[in-house]
Amino acid sequence: MKLICCKDYEDMSKHVAQDILAEVKANPEIVLGLATGSTPEGCYKYMVEAYEAGEADFSKVSSVNLDEYVGLGPDDDQGYRYFMNKHLFDHVNIDKANTYVPNGLAKTSEEACAEHEANIEKLGGIDVQLLGLGGNGHIGFNEPGESFVKGTHIVDLTPGTIEANARFFESIDDVPKQAYSMGVGNILDAQKVILAVSGTRKAQALYEVIYGSICPKVQGSILQLHKNVVIYADEEALSVIREKGLL
Ligand code: F6R
Repeated sequence: MKLICCKDYEDMSKHVAQDILAEVKANPEIVLGLATGSTPEGCYKYMVEAYEAGEADFSKVSSVNLDEYVGLGPDDDQGYRYFMNKHLFDHVNIDKANTYVPNGLAKTSEEACAEHEANIEKLGGIDVQLLGLGGNGHIGFNEPGESFVKGTHIVDLTPGTIEANARFFESIDDVPKQAYSMGVGNILDAQKVILAVSGTRKAQALYEVIYGSICPKVQGSILQLHKNVVIYADEEALSVIREKGLL
């Protein structure tokens, strides 16, 4: 794992965007695995700016998202398809037909998961997977548990995750209790993983991801098994690692 120390959220966002933009330049037909939430918003902003400055071309890029809430559709402003359109897809020249988000409105969870798996396979796998980190160490919506799950699956969100994500909803009761998420197997299959981490709320989890034992109670710890992981973390997120004298 390569750890890049960043000053703050802005600095982290710039570094992550530069990394992704360099990958897109090197491989214009790249398949990006994308994340939602507060962490990548700044990165997407810089990617849009690069596009507007004529420095990036997404016309041949495909993408596949990590997750989506069960029951939320593309027009739902709390859904992740909506998020992706709002923060990235509507502002760059990506062909939306080549962008995939799990279908929160599928008739059954089996159908939603099988469709997402088929889409990942159709794209030939993920070249670069962008991840945020949950305060509980989750990646995608792979919540702390007794095991690691390989492929796309339905997840019962933990009370902590529901609480953390309530800020995006009118009230905590509006937060869906379940989501579809890629499994850690999908993430490990990516050629390269970029983990972006910001804020003291993530500091303990980041320490465990990097230095803890590989354990499903901290799902992100599985990234220790991947050969090409780059972590961009800001000083707040690095605080526990620094307190322990490891940096
Ligand atoms: C989002 C996702 C989640 C988030 C994580 C951090 O697609 O898969 O794992 O990356 O919950 O969320 P934020 O960035 O909002 O702190």
